[in-house]
Amino acid sequence: MSAEKTYPVPEQTAANALLNREQYEQMYRRSLEDPENFWAEQADAFLSWFKRWDKVQNNDLAKGQIRWFEGGKLNVSYNCLDRHLDTHGDRHAIIWEADEPGTTRHITYRELHEAVCRLANVLKDRGVGKGDRVSIYMPMIPEAVVAMLACTRIGAVHSIVFGGFSPHALRDRIEDADCRTVITADEGLRSGKPVPLKENVEKAIDGLDSVHTVVTVKHTGNDVTWHPERDVWYHEATAAASAECACEEMDAEDPLFILYTSGSTGKPKGVLHTTGGYLLQASMTFKYVFDYHDGEVYWCTADVGWVTGHSYIVYGPLSNGATSLVFEGVPTYPDAGRFWQVIDDHQVNIFYTAPTAIRSLMGQGEDLVKKYSRSSLRILGTVGEPINPEAWEWYYRVVGDERCRIVDTWWQTETGAIMISALPGAVDLKPGSATLPFFGVEPQLVDNDGNVLEGATEGNLCINRAWPSMMRTIYGDHERFMNTYLTTYKGKYFTGDGARRDEDGYYWITGRVDDVLNVSGHRMGTAEIESALVLHESVAEAAVVGYPHDVKGQGIYCYVTLVNGVEPSDDLQAELAGLVRKEIGPIAKPDVIQWAPGLPKTRSGKIMRRILRKVATNELDSLGDTSTLADPSVVDELISNRANR
Ligand code: WT7
Repeated sequence: MSAEKTYPVPEQTAANALLNREQYEQMYRRSLEDPENFWAEQADAFLSWFKRWDKVQNNDLAKGQIRWFEGGKLNVSYNCLDRHLDTHGDRHAIIWEADEPGTTRHITYRELHEAVCRLANVLKDRGVGKGDRVSIYMPMIPEAVVAMLACTRIGAVHSIVFGGFSPHALRDRIEDADCRTVITADEGLRSGKPVPLKENVEKAIDGLDSVHTVVTVKHTGNDVTWHPERDVWYHEATAAASAECACEEMDAEDPLFILYTSGSTGKPKGVLHTTGGYLLQASMTFKYVFDYHDGEVYWCTADVGWVTGHSYIVYGPLSNGATSLVFEGVPTYPDAGRFWQVIDDHQVNIFYTAPTAIRSLMGQGEDLVKKYSRSSLRILGTVGEPINPEAWEWYYRVVGDERCRIVDTWWQTETGAIMISALPGAVDLKPGSATLPFFGVEPQLVDNDGNVLEGATEGNLCINRAWPSMMRTIYGDHERFMNTYLTTYKGKYFTGDGARRDEDGYYWITGRVDDVLNVSGHRMGTAEIESALVLHESVAEAAVVGYPHDVKGQGIYCYVTLVNGVEPSDDLQAELAGLVRKEIGPIAKPDVIQWAPGLPKTRSGKIMRRILRKVATNELDSLGDTSTLADPSVVDELISNRANR
């Protein structure tokens, strides 16, 4: 073992866990050496198939061809619901904790199955069928899960848009995937404040006649705009619909969902996942990474609008027949003890959250944690960004009372499911490291020229072969899929992340190596924020970079060049921040706007972001070579403006 601090697997943990070190190593080796048999066995063990596949895999990364379990037939809602009814139909599938403490709902597998069948019939009545895209724009209420599963039941492809996104962002996504049905709620609630979801939908689809149906859940009960031909109340329509609905038999490679995520350039990409491989890896990783034992209560604090919510609130837990807690609120309302109260109230065994939440709660001291027992907790997970060792230690010591294993799970919207993570009974922990690859995952570190680096080293993180839950394409733009992920290092998938591998083979993710920001675990493209800023008539040019932020991980730093004759002012600054918020959503609100009379550009006009990052981070001693700039004096101006800001 290396010099870093390690937390070995306690003997008792290894004995009680689903997999110990030896089993992990043996299975991992087999997953790479004999993938056909390994994956066939897993697909049989984890999923119920109407018809078994003809071919386990048919992959060629260089050609952009990824196919798993071709010819196999299955249905996701059947795997998440129907097959559990005989054995544990009365177990809670969902425990819902509302924004307001004290309001909860418990929904059994049988009840969830019925709700899903009813909504599936409503969708069918409105003409929604196999392959049609349905946009879901919902708060964190059980009906969001019902909506997802109802789509999968009839073979419709859901495209969830996070409820914090603006009408503008929603419209882009509805148009890009040509969604003709939208499922929403009257309003969401966050820390007691309403979020006008239905009104946002109205704005988003204004003039978009292709949308023929909007199904609305009555949640807060406040008035909303209503178009009788197009609008359907969820409660009315589902009450009138049949409680039985046969599942569509889907091919393993039929599309399951589209989820938009940001890249370094251009508009967000519609990441497309398909049915069999996605469900298998979501299901398997849920069971092994969280060491899920039958009957346990599991809570992932993400939103279903992100991939974490897809795979680890809905598809992973429900395909395993687990009880998944759905939380509408925020970590700090009514106070920063909220998480621990919910854990005690519902006796949560497995808890999965983001480093940004841990860091913000850490800042509030230990008392609010110690006020609650947390004795039900066994496993703690983290995801979304690198976790700094201080936050890791606090999570381990204060939240977990040095009794819980921590799994730091590295993955992406594109990977569909967890790729690098410890398994609780198998892998010794090192704070800040995602540790070792999951079954079938073959990470590689490569230098900028594509040379594969061996041993303890640092480089660009690639995955050298296809895995079951890998994205299949970017919806409507396969060429962009190839260019973004598969051509930089031919034959490998390029993650966009940098990583270090230590002498024990452990991976340490160092963060994005492209122009993607990770703000409070939310992924954003600098280009998207720049496009919003330049919409303002006073803005000539804008460049956005990330800088280290104590709580958010990264903050958003904007350099703005105003058009000639416009004077900078605090009002203008507030206006620009408001514009970004309106265009993208509150999560994209700039932390810093610095006026920049000029931006550092090369003679060919390319902005040198490296310099902008250094100025934002206040690393002025290491600006590097500025001699290739068209006008090096721009840099001095940026530095002096920084000091005045
Ligand atoms: C990016 C993917 C995966 C679900 C949530 C985010 C960063 C994610 C970790 C981790 C270090 C992490 C990476 C990755 N990231 N998990 N455990 N350690 N970095 O999904 O929005 O697609 O973002 O999040 O930079 O590329 P996403």
